[in-house]
Amino acid sequence: MEKPRQHVALIGFMGTGKSTVSKELAARLNCGVIDIDAEIVRREGASIADIFGTRGEAEFRAAETAALADVIDCAEALVIATGGGAVLAEHNRKLMLEGSFVVALKADPEQIIARVSQDPDRPLLQGDVEGRVHKLLEDRKHAYDFAHLVIDTTKLTVQEVVDSIERGL
Ligand code: S3P
Repeated sequence: MEKPRQHVALIGFMGTGKSTVSKELAARLNCGVIDIDAEIVRREGASIADIFGTRGEAEFRAAETAALADVIDCAEALVIATGGGAVLAEHNRKLMLEGSFVVALKADPEQIIARVSQDPDRPLLQGDVEGRVHKLLEDRKHAYDFAHLVIDTTKLTVQEVVDSIERGL
């Protein structure tokens, strides 16, 4: 028998507002919230940048998959904010689709660039931030399309995004 989809997983490119929306959505739904990046940092005892820098992206991705699998396995219903690259592995997409209602957040490149520029701790965006965002957005053009619900957050407030998700559940 298929396992019920108890969680809400937020996916989307860096800077689309997953972390902010996850906290507001969890407050609205009166449930717990877990940020996979924060969970990796807690488990590994190192920052995302340190893990990328000392152990490489492949090890970061392995830690990401392990954290995601454990969180999806939680009996308690959760809002799960994933990292922008968590969707790249088919195994992760399968985990999310089986265990959660998957919501993709999108935003215009200009807004993404403005948001990520305020938080420089993103290893994949070091150097030419604008150029890297455009390149990765192109590479990942369809990476978030598998979601049950897709929301363009560009012109919406956080509360409006939460309203849309709640309506879609
Ligand atoms: C990544 C996104 C980041 C973080 C890591 C890699 C990606 O998370 O997991 O830097 O590959 O898109 P956010 O989307 O929360 O910034």
